[in-house]
Amino acid sequence: MQNELKQQVAKSALAYVPKDEIIGVGTGSTVDYFIRELATMRHDIAGAVASSERSKKLLEEVGIEVLDINSAPNIAVYIDGADEVERSGYCIKGGGGALTREKIVAAIANKFICIVDDSKVVDVLGRDFPVAIEVLAEARSHVGRDCVAMGANPVYREGFVTDSGHIILDVYGLNFSDIKALDTNLNAIVGVVCHGLFVSERPNTILVASSAGVTAFAAT
Ligand code: A5P
Repeated sequence: MQNELKQQVAKSALAYVPKDEIIGVGTGSTVDYFIRELATMRHDIAGAVASSERSKKLLEEVGIEVLDINSAPNIAVYIDGADEVERSGYCIKGGGGALTREKIVAAIANKFICIVDDSKVVDVLGRDFPVAIEVLAEARSHVGRDCVAMGANPVYREGFVTDSGHIILDVYGLNFSDIKALDTNLNAIVGVVCHGLFVSERPNTILVASSAGVTAFAAT
């Protein structure tokens, strides 16, 4: 059932894809469905920028031209999933480990459309899902200690290396009462490359699939 919802929301995102523009494409199982849908429009778009090697490979397999992120002059819209999203648009991403490139594409794109099934919509972020933090390997212990000092519980993602060659700490129990301060404080830890809490880079629109269909709502 969840896969059917992912497929539905992926299909509905096509309505947000403008013609002759470069499209930012995220990462994950929901986006895998989106890429297959986007293939039906491949002659109508100017190409795609991928947020991961996984999505790049799939885009190329379905015949969509993939542009280098640094060479793309403009990204009209970015389509990506999330692990948890609030109705405000604040969200946690990075379950698949692609958070840094995802945040870069989100920062460049004119618009970010988040596609999720209704299990991802939460009242308060972080109760169930950790915040993934991409970290320079040399800073693993230091970043872990700073997270503990913040009252949280960092867990090293064993055997995982990001597309950029870094490690991931999955951090449980962070305090979300001031999300902007949390964003700033995590970014300020030496050795942090990027974290999976999307605050400034949050989506503009969230498409949510449920058994009743797909609903769009604007982030506040
Ligand atoms: C990838 O790093 C993540 O940010 C994904 O966007 C997120 O984990 C959603 O993935 P699914 O679509 O597989 O649930």
